[in-house]
Amino acid sequence: KKREISSAALLAWYDRHKRKLPWRAENGVRPDPYHVWLSEIMLQQTTVKAVGPYYARFLDRWPTVADLAAVRLEEVLKLWAGLGYYARARNLHACARVIVEEHAGIFPESEAKLLKLPGIGAYTAAAVAAIAFDHKATPVDGNIERVVSRLFAIEEPLPASKPLIRERAATLTPDQRAGDFAQAMMDLGATICTPKKPACALCPWSEPCIARERGDQETFPRKTAK
Ligand code: ADE
Repeated sequence: KKREISSAALLAWYDRHKRKLPWRAENGVRPDPYHVWLSEIMLQQTTVKAVGPYYARFLDRWPTVADLAAVRLEEVLKLWAGLGYYARARNLHACARVIVEEHAGIFPESEAKLLKLPGIGAYTAAAVAAIAFDHKATPVDGNIERVVSRLFAIEEPLPASKPLIRERAATLTPDQRAGDFAQAMMDLGATICTPKKPACALCPWSEPCIARERGDQETFPRKTAK
């Protein structure tokens, strides 16, 4: 049986079905790294729907990372109010200041350099490197964990399976369009490969998906009993 998991098939699906989200540039234009970073920090632990208005207000008030770095932390916390996890706002502000003071206001492009910045962990470093700079990097969030677990029918439960899932996801990532590929995986997980009743009939990867072949796609990712 043909088991090829083609990044081209997913990218073609993404070109037709991607969600229109405010931090996504159109027509193949690279999005501003400040926009990508801000959105990725806000989207941790918060839904796309809830983030929308906050994202718009932040950019309206502070159009550049230098504008954000120039204000007092209290101002940032005020505009963040309601989003929760306030450590994110403190780190956001600290990170803006480091970028202005140590990087001349320009976001570093490499995953390794991004990782050193306040509040930027493995996920965010990979997301910014891929989405803003088209570096070959593979951010793995909960949606992507689910997609990959199902594609390969990974029996090892989360969280122990995380390294294996990362490795598989990295193997799938193409040399070109790594940022679109990452966001395509996120959209696939959010709209097709959903936790319950995934819409496998609409999935560009239903053919090679092992969980789908077995008919037990909803049982992945396996999780350690709580
Ligand atoms: N969740 C986190 N980052 C995202 C992105 N760039 N697009 C869609 N969903 C996301």
